[in-house]
Amino acid sequence: MDLDAARKLWEPAPGWLNTASYGLPPRPALDDLHTALTQWRHGSTDWQPWDDTVTRSRAAFATLIGAPADDITLSSTASQIFSQIATALPPGSRVLVPDIEFTSNVYPWAMAAHVDTAAPDRLAEAITPHTSAVAFSLVQSATGHKAPLADIIEAARAHDTLVIADASQACGWLPVTTDGLDALACAAYKWLMCPRGAAFGYLSPRLRARMRPTAANWYSGTSMYGMPLTHRPGARAFDLSPAWFSYVAAAPTLELLNQLDLADIHAHNLALANRFRAGAGLPPGDSAIVSLDTDALGTGAETGRHLERAGVRAAVRAGKLRVSFHLYTSESDVDLALQALT
Ligand SMILES: Cc1ncc(COP(=O)(O)O)c(C=O)c1O
Repeated sequence: MDLDAARKLWEPAPGWLNTASYGLPPRPALDDLHTALTQWRHGSTDWQPWDDTVTRSRAAFATLIGAPADDITLSSTASQIFSQIATALPPGSRVLVPDIEFTSNVYPWAMAAHVDTAAPDRLAEAITPHTSAVAFSLVQSATGHKAPLADIIEAARAHDTLVIADASQACGWLPVTTDGLDALACAAYKWLMCPRGAAFGYLSPRLRARMRPTAANWYSGTSMYGMPLTHRPGARAFDLSPAWFSYVAAAPTLELLNQLDLADIHAHNLALANRFRAGAGLPPGDSAIVSLDTDALGTGAETGRHLERAGVRAAVRAGKLRVSFHLYTSESDVDLALQALT
């Protein structure tokens, strides 16, 4: 499907520059969700049709990252997926993370291992023979910095270090594959534009063999009542029982994304990000997230409030203004923000 035609399915109010916080849904997703809510209100259906959207979502996410659906686990949050992965770490393990990493990809490791930190662009050289796993965002939440993926994978291979990626700020605008990764987790409520409550994980077979399904439940098992405990095959053994309504809207959204050319979305988002950067006096960048030092205008929080009064919804992270641009963002949104800043 052509991106210009697809963009008509979104109805953002002017000035939404905060997809890094949460993404907006396309109309077909809202229509399906309204239908499901009406069914719920009247009790006019079994839950099975809602559950079918879980299967569709798993398949669509697998297609998006080019992995077998068997290797995809479903959860409600990225951090819960990381907590499950942490069961693969033996006592005494060391996990290396960027020093500005979002805590959903830090705290689960801190509960299970010793955490080492390094600057995001020095991660590869900080991997040592003692590093059990390196866990990092493909795109940093606070700054939009893109991980030096090839270098990290090469260094990790040299030391048999597990490579674990957080794709929450990447999937949906940046081409993402599982090449060289042992695991990936993605909260789907940002660039994948799904409701909060849907999260996806890729778990490689070699990693799964070391993990324990400590959140076992009726959905990850094969039976609804009593013993014995039997796990479903593949990554499904690590599923949480799904938040149905999140997947009712996730399935059509992910299927729509798969009909689009990701290269078009990538080009659209970067063009807008670079329009903003040029207007704000920054050199061109390679990320759909832009972090701007606004000290000349006041603190980040003051600038955020000023933008809000001008009708721009952005975020403040690490004391800086953070703006983010997705397929439904337009040049007029960018210009609104630039006007407010000048
Ligand atoms: C990089 C990253 N990972 C994960 C999350 C969300 O984590 P969770 O799904 O555990 O709430 C965010 C939210 O901002 C994020 O920026």
